[in-house]
Amino acid sequence: MQVYKELAEIIRREQVAEDIYRLTVKAPDIAAASKPGQFVMVRTGEGLDPLLRRPFSVHQVAEGGMVQILFKVIGKGTQALANMEVGRKLDVLGPIGRGFTIADDSQHFLVGGGIGIAPLFFLARRILKKSEAFSIRVLLGARTKDEIAALADDFKGMGLVVDTITEDGSLGKQGLVTDLMADLQQEKPVMIYGCGPYPMLRAVAKTCRENSWGCQVSLETMMACGLAACLGCAVLRADMKGYVHACKDGPVFDADDVAWL
Ligand SMILES: Cc1cc2nc3c(=O)[nH]c(=O)nc-3n(C[C@H](O)[C@H](O)[C@H](O)COP(=O)(O)OP(=O)(O)OC[C@H]3O[C@@H](n4cnc5c(N)ncnc54)[C@H](O)[C@@H]3O)c2cc1C
Ligand code: FES
Repeated sequence: MQVYKELAEIIRREQVAEDIYRLTVKAPDIAAASKPGQFVMVRTGEGLDPLLRRPFSVHQVAEGGMVQILFKVIGKGTQALANMEVGRKLDVLGPIGRGFTIADDSQHFLVGGGIGIAPLFFLARRILKKSEAFSIRVLLGARTKDEIAALADDFKGMGLVVDTITEDGSLGKQGLVTDLMADLQQEKPVMIYGCGPYPMLRAVAKTCRENSWGCQVSLETMMACGLAACLGCAVLRADMKGYVHACKDGPVFDADDVAWL
């Protein structure tokens, strides 16, 4: 699988919520090659600071060779990205890793927690190319309304049914996204596509195992190189006999292949 390096012009910068931004960059090779669940490595500064590129899921691709990333400001790199002006060129490597596999003839549940929602838009668009909107349901959880309200509206704009839940009850029910999964009764086979913090994914995987549902999870493991060189993104295999690496073998894994510690 080819990884491209592009100097991608920033075409649009949007502030989606208090600390959440969406950047649209022109990167035609990456846009053409990307699959849902894959990611890009972005250089967030000039020179050596920050030294390491930062990984971001491909949020969406659009006509004209556009690639979008959706990110939350948590530190130096993401703050620098949030401050970047339209017209600036961004050094981007991608697409990287193994993405989601869209299941045939299934009911698709897209389960996102916090900023983990980012790759699920691209996935939803690709599922919609071969399935009807009614076969997709989006379950979103976050700490508060601010983190997901605008993103939930984006999914609704795609004609999808969206259920939301927040830890403080400010949007939807009060609780965790796995609470929304508790009521799912389906006749068709179910495939869950999850992305979010590790504890959430562990709970999602457990619910899926108990119900015999298919489950793919995108693990946002800490990454240094993103290119299978540093071995820093090791994930313990389910059989506990060795490791896979999130940047090469993932970031999307079958939940049954991971040792949930
Ligand atoms: C495959 C993958 C996809 C991701 N997709 C998104 C996304 O779409 N949107 C988004 O907001 N965030 C995403 N993240 C997390 C994002 O990479 C980190 O929030 C970001 O690197 C933090 O950089 P910083 O300089 O602001 O923070 P700092 O804390 O200063 O970062 C320091 C170092 O830690 C690493 N790091 C810190 N937090 C994380 C984290 N949660 N995951 C992985 N590495 C981290 C950074 O790469 C960097 O090397 C993704 C992570 C991975 C592995
Ligand atoms: S991040 Fe270096 S090997 Fe995966």
